[in-house]
Amino acid sequence: MIRRVLAASVIVPSSSIATRARRWRSSTFINAKHKSSPEGISRSAGGGRSVPGMNIALIGATGTLGTAVHTELTGRGHHVLTVGRTAGDLRHDLTDPDQIAALYRAAGPLDAVVSTAGDVPYKPVAELTADDWQAAFRGKVLSQLELVRQGLPHVAEHGSFTLITGILAREPIPTGAAASMANGAVEAFVRAAAIEIAPQRINAVSPTVFTESLDAYGDFFPGMGSVPLADVARAYVRSVEGRQTGQVYTVQ
Ligand SMILES: NC(=O)c1ccc[n+]([C@@H]2O[C@H](COP(=O)([O-])OP(=O)(O)OC[C@H]3O[C@@H](n4cnc5c(N)ncnc54)[C@H](OP(=O)(O)O)[C@@H]3O)[C@@H](O)[C@H]2O)c1
Repeated sequence: MIRRVLAASVIVPSSSIATRARRWRSSTFINAKHKSSPEGISRSAGGGRSVPGMNIALIGATGTLGTAVHTELTGRGHHVLTVGRTAGDLRHDLTDPDQIAALYRAAGPLDAVVSTAGDVPYKPVAELTADDWQAAFRGKVLSQLELVRQGLPHVAEHGSFTLITGILAREPIPTGAAASMANGAVEAFVRAAAIEIAPQRINAVSPTVFTESLDAYGDFFPGMGSVPLADVARAYVRSVEGRQTGQVYTVQ
């Protein structure tokens, strides 16, 4: 079950999806007007206070983690544009840089970009092929790095990016070498990018196995404990609404 390799897909938004995205963009533009208030106070997190009603693109919104993050962010009054390959307001594959560009064109101005998506293959080191390494890099590293690089002009001055990594960056398990590589690369990028993109912010959330995923993956994490999805979702809130940058929020 844990041996998943990312399948590339190209999905064109249906008309109903396009309509939902347009409706979402109108609320984005209303919000954008507030950003240039006469007092010059940014409404984005990082502008001095926690502000509900941020416009947030959530990648992987219908996945296990994405669903929990969606519930938490909408519960706090944020406007969440859901993105995935097969479900969501917008359908784009993050492993294709052209589709990331299309995503940002459709989304309009954003206060935060949140990623809960990233696939890597799980195999013993001796069986990992060059294609597997590339799949891990495309599926979790390049996809999220491009999401940040291309997102810079579309995210508010004090807006933020929150990426997903995982415990394997610091605690190895058998068959997890590609995931460890990918998580470590993303965490190194987060620390490096933070010093260049300020006042925009960037953080990573790095959880251990979710309690809700124990049936599927628990055997791979013997004695390592698990965390409820609600705790992981709160780490995203900390990143989106907080002031810190260059952080890796471990949740374990
Ligand atoms: N499960 C755990 O216990 C656990 C623990 C620590 C870290 N993590 C990490 O957390 C992340 C999410 O895990 P999960 O268990 O929530 O996975 P999941 O249930 O498979 O959900 C992944 C979501 O991301 C979307 N997605 C995947 N690849 C995409 C791409 N290339 N472009 C756009 N959307 C994409 C999927 O939607 P579509 O299929 O429709 O695209 C899906 O909505 C992974 O990176 C995983 O390594 C998981």
